[in-house]
Amino acid sequence: MRRGLTIFLIINLLIICFLIRSVYTLLTLLVEDGSADAIHPAEIPAPNSPLIDDRPQLIPKIIHQTYVNDTVPERWREAQKSCVDLHEDYEYKLWTDVKSREFIATEYPWFLATFDNYSQPIQRADAIRYFVLNHFGGIYIDLDDGCNRRLDPLLSYPSWVRRTHPTGISNDAMGSIPHHPFFTLVIESLIPYNRDWKLPYITVMYSTGPLFLSVIWQEYKRGRQSEVGSFIGPAGSSGRWNGMEETRVRVLMGDEYNKQPWAFFRWHGGSSWHGSDARLVFWMGRHWMLLTASGFLIAGVVGLGIWWIYGRVLLLGERRRKGGKSPWATAAGWTQRIVLLRRGSAKGYELVARHEV
Ligand SMILES: *[C@@H]1O[C@H](CO)[C@@H](O)[C@H](O)[C@H]1NC(C)=O
Repeated sequence: MRRGLTIFLIINLLIICFLIRSVYTLLTLLVEDGSADAIHPAEIPAPNSPLIDDRPQLIPKIIHQTYVNDTVPERWREAQKSCVDLHEDYEYKLWTDVKSREFIATEYPWFLATFDNYSQPIQRADAIRYFVLNHFGGIYIDLDDGCNRRLDPLLSYPSWVRRTHPTGISNDAMGSIPHHPFFTLVIESLIPYNRDWKLPYITVMYSTGPLFLSVIWQEYKRGRQSEVGSFIGPAGSSGRWNGMEETRVRVLMGDEYNKQPWAFFRWHGGSSWHGSDARLVFWMGRHWMLLTASGFLIAGVVGLGIWWIYGRVLLLGERRRKGGKSPWATAAGWTQRIVLLRRGSAKGYELVARHEV
């Protein structure tokens, strides 16, 4: 093969590898269904079953919610009340803006600057839930999610999140023991992921929101898998396994979350902050086939463009070597270059090829 073409292909391969590497976790989310860690309906005792009391209760009985201040709007009061009324023996914490900031300033001062500088209030509402789960443990519930039954069976898992469609997990209902390694990783990842993606919706999703949480979840599972591989030997694995079970993040699937009589939550649907860019993202979600095809098309066109420019550069370099002085340096050089380009556009490939023989 000609040297020029080989170099061109290698450079493009490197670029593709780099791109795939940087979006690898996002790609794995497309094929992740969470089934390996799913909490199966069969392992959850029915509401009011005496079996519920026989289960270990690892997560502390605390319900966390967030709102701007203590005056919860009328439309969410019923949902809020449904959770409070069902859990009179649980501690209830409503994290207002003031309380959230105080808490971060006291317990996680290294995060205060980032917390204060978030451009969207929802980013603070996202972040605070991870910190309180990491610090106190308990169950976080969005204010627009009501409770359908007591959450006691969910206290038996050291950590759980909720599966969403089409992909990933949500951050609107989560539970954890204090200092669970997953939530520790989550709060540690907030600063590195704090980037401005120009569209507010994407910025929120990917810096603190569900997409951020889903990506960290993928990374956490990958890291944990490699640890399982090195820790668990054939002998004495059961003791280890308990330790590993504790670090596992279980996944609450759709039916157990909503819509069924035995589901834990009732979704009231009150996303209060979706803007026009959110509609764009939802549209993109529905048309991902089209977008993928256009992606390949654009990549092809860009690839050809790079090939063309590469040919021009080789050609100019060759001219420069022959002419002894840079064609960029003088006005004559400019004319020469323009002529070169015009001529080159018709015969680019042959010209490049000739230099390369
Ligand atoms: C609480 O916040 C809401 C929404 O920003 C506002 O309308 C309301 O006046 C606030 N209530 C108090 C008591 O500050």
